[in-house]
Amino acid sequence: MKTMYWKDNKLFLIDQTLLPDEIVYHECKTYEDVITAIKTMKVRGAPAIGVAAAFGMVLAEIAGENIEKAADKIKNARPTAVNLSWAVDRVLNSESFIDEAMLMYNEDIQTNKAIGKNGAAVIDDGDTILTHCNAGALACVDYGTALGVLRAANEEGKRIKVICDETRPLCQGARLSVFEMQQEKIPVKLAVDSAAGHLMQKGMVNKVVIGADRVAKGGVANKIGSLLVALAAKRFNIPFYVAAPKSTFDSENSIYDVEIEERDADEVLYFGKCRVAPEGTEIENPAFDIVPSDLITGIITEDGIIKPI
Ligand code: MRU
Repeated sequence: MKTMYWKDNKLFLIDQTLLPDEIVYHECKTYEDVITAIKTMKVRGAPAIGVAAAFGMVLAEIAGENIEKAADKIKNARPTAVNLSWAVDRVLNSESFIDEAMLMYNEDIQTNKAIGKNGAAVIDDGDTILTHCNAGALACVDYGTALGVLRAANEEGKRIKVICDETRPLCQGARLSVFEMQQEKIPVKLAVDSAAGHLMQKGMVNKVVIGADRVAKGGVANKIGSLLVALAAKRFNIPFYVAAPKSTFDSENSIYDVEIEERDADEVLYFGKCRVAPEGTEIENPAFDIVPSDLITGIITEDGIIKPI
């Protein structure tokens, strides 16, 4: 099952807001539909929004839209992942929008399999690996980056166990990563975000593998909570790996200059449909945080494992 597919000049995306209960493909007929799907996180995860953005450009071209305006709006749908700009610029610089988007679609799967193979080398038989958010097939076209490493280790016959952080506020770990691991029949447990330090202190975690929205000078931006996981891993000498394709690298900027997306207060004020704080409570809702390079053991890419930039 792919996170998205292109058919009859339309983009179909699994609506990830409905997972794990319903698997429904959401139809995008215009580039604005793609932008809305990205903003509302029907499609999410850095590589997935990159490829969706590429098809958004194809939709803009088919409809005869102003290409520069469409490119600008798509790039700004979410600010933190570099993949949106990467994908839009790649399509703009190509000879055929649709051919380039299809190429990126197919490349994504091959790239993730290469990341998986490279990353599996640092996973030992019997390891329990903690992951945060969802850097799985659902965050890409297929296979996944961080979860791709776990898939590859499992395919190699290593007996691994996975702990997924719940990942408040939108519970990508609980809803999406647990779902993916269960589909793969990889033993998985769910823990609340604040349990990570305790589990590490008790010796119940051998490695951490997470994804990234941007790898830049000085560190990595990833889902809010990644920093606390990295700090705890450092304290307890647990190797902390980031799995990320080269499309997520931004060698121009310092990671501290990257805009951290702030999302709607209701994501925190409500757990699903249930309000969990008094009405009118003021909210901080940063969607990402920064893991500094010195907390990262290695970055697992399609070309091998490298030191942070
Ligand atoms: O807000 P999200 O769900 O798009 O955040 C996703 C993440 O933080 C992932 O870890 C990251 O995009 C890497 S996905 C391979």
